[in-house]
Amino acid sequence: MRYDSITDAIGNTPLVRIDPAVHGLRNIDLFAKLEMLNPFGSVKDRAAWSMARPLLDEAVEHGSQVVELSSGNTAKALAVVAGMHGLGFKSVTNRMRVPEIKDLLLLLGAEIEELPGQSECLDPTATDDPLTLFHRTLSASGSTYLHTDQYFNPRNTEAHLTGTGPEIVKDLDGRVPDWFVACVGTAGSSTGVARALREEDPSVRVVGLVAAKSDFIPGIRTIDEVQEVGLFDPETYDTMESVSSDEAIEGMLTLNRRCGILGGPTGGAAYHGAVRHLRAVDEESTERRTAVFIVCDRVESYLSYVRQRRPDLLGRPPRKNSPADLTDAEVGGAPSVTVAEARRWIDAEGPLVVDLRSPFAYAALHIDGSVNIVDELFAELLQGGLPFSRSRPVLLACPVGEQSARYAALLTRMGHPDVRSLAGGVIAWRDAGAPLVRD
Ligand SMILES: Cc1ncc(COP(=O)(O)O)c(C=O)c1O
Repeated sequence: MRYDSITDAIGNTPLVRIDPAVHGLRNIDLFAKLEMLNPFGSVKDRAAWSMARPLLDEAVEHGSQVVELSSGNTAKALAVVAGMHGLGFKSVTNRMRVPEIKDLLLLLGAEIEELPGQSECLDPTATDDPLTLFHRTLSASGSTYLHTDQYFNPRNTEAHLTGTGPEIVKDLDGRVPDWFVACVGTAGSSTGVARALREEDPSVRVVGLVAAKSDFIPGIRTIDEVQEVGLFDPETYDTMESVSSDEAIEGMLTLNRRCGILGGPTGGAAYHGAVRHLRAVDEESTERRTAVFIVCDRVESYLSYVRQRRPDLLGRPPRKNSPADLTDAEVGGAPSVTVAEARRWIDAEGPLVVDLRSPFAYAALHIDGSVNIVDELFAELLQGGLPFSRSRPVLLACPVGEQSARYAALLTRMGHPDVRSLAGGVIAWRDAGAPLVRD
């Protein structure tokens, strides 16, 4: 194989059969589409190249900076493509939560601008809101940015409609798989492949996978977050199912250790989601059928993610005091207060108010007297035991009241006698007209 440019090596990734002794399905052949073997390391190489390619000549002429809202693989691929053309790249993101990827982006020469996410933004329509300002800057006439706009750009989907999908059919000797399973981030890969497969055989069933609510699997969205994506169309999927980060890591371990496929957490999520879905239908017919899932990227960038969630896998003591270990009943029964109750409680007893949002969102507006401990840091603190005195009540606040409920349940389990979650979060507080301050 010889190429004139590394970008010519994007696509034509292998389709590898998973050993039935590993997945245990009797009547279904399960195949992994190894998008991790694209040259910059992920499924997003196709989308990045497809979106940037037609605009590069003009960008080079004007010396434009390439810009994208991404904290992961799209940013990585665009940083490389921009660098190859002598252009700068800026990654705009609400939170860089995977340190290895942040470091890699910096190594590749990217500029990183961190802004609060929509759910953390108290007023996305405010004129000084950073995301609003960002979009206004990009669309201003005379702007010299090349904005690839991955959440809305149809060329993201097209890369998979013309590449990934047809490659799967070709590698199955012209047959369309009975099931296609993919994680949903921008929805570009799942939508493009689903469309290509349905053009050949409309009976293919498409399973879309999202991260479980209040959970985090880098690269994919939760069912609520996916609604904000311009390319997402619920009609694309026959079913949408969720996967937890623990399940994603378990699936990833199976791929890594038993299949020799060094995929990352979303590859693991896709494997786990595929086997769980297919197990339920495996016995329906004795005819042999076929399913394909996507392995989006590689494991190496996620060692700190694994260390945080499964320290036991990296030779450390097992995880303690994690909100992921709570039962639904514990979370449902977490003590909570409405905004009005919280205000009376603050006046009467002065609980310690802990704001779990990002420092940026906290700096923009917060409850007077609250302290800011961003959720990831809070999770780490709890590994060491209760970080507060039992004698002081605690009020936990997050954007919409989901995470704070989990942590209230956890602190209660850890023996704190009076911890409560602010129902509806800081958004409910603002909507009720309660006072917020800015430092
Ligand atoms: C690791 C990883 N997995 C899955 C996806 C989802 O792909 P898509 O954006 O095509 O929905 C992404 C997207 O960024 C990703 O980075």
